[in-house]
Amino acid sequence: MKTEGAVMIETVPGTGEIDPYLHIFFRMKNGEYIAFFDAPGSADPDWFKRKPSFDMHWAFEVADEAEMLEMQDRINKHGVSALGPVDHGFVKSIYMYDPNGIQIEVTCRAPDHDKIFEDERASLGEALREWSERTREVKNQKFGADAVNKRGRVRP
Ligand SMILES: [Fe+2]
Repeated sequence: MKTEGAVMIETVPGTGEIDPYLHIFFRMKNGEYIAFFDAPGSADPDWFKRKPSFDMHWAFEVADEAEMLEMQDRINKHGVSALGPVDHGFVKSIYMYDPNGIQIEVTCRAPDHDKIFEDERASLGEALREWSERTREVKNQKFGADAVNKRGRVRP
């Protein structure tokens, strides 16, 4: 990932509210970009607390395990704890937190990744139906049946 640019902007698009911020762009190896906003005027310190990592994290794929381990070593040498690797069967991953408290996963495919996914795809519909049925009650209790159904999380 490489820093490609940073733009200082004075107002919020759409509302015109004055809130100077920096929009900073990073280019990833595959040519795609990821961008962040640094808006200290409107930022709330609570936003930077660690988020529940299991539910909220970003995963970035690298070419192979050697590249992933290289990144882990580099990150650890910069004083950021990058844990792992964790072997998930179809991928291996390392994990760390970004300055926003969001967990970042760097992952590489296992040699049999595509075969595992091909097998899983064959039972995808069945697995989704089974999961929806299995979790319907707890979702309904937590979110309300109407909300769950509107979001398409559970088929009626
Ligand atoms: Fe993940």
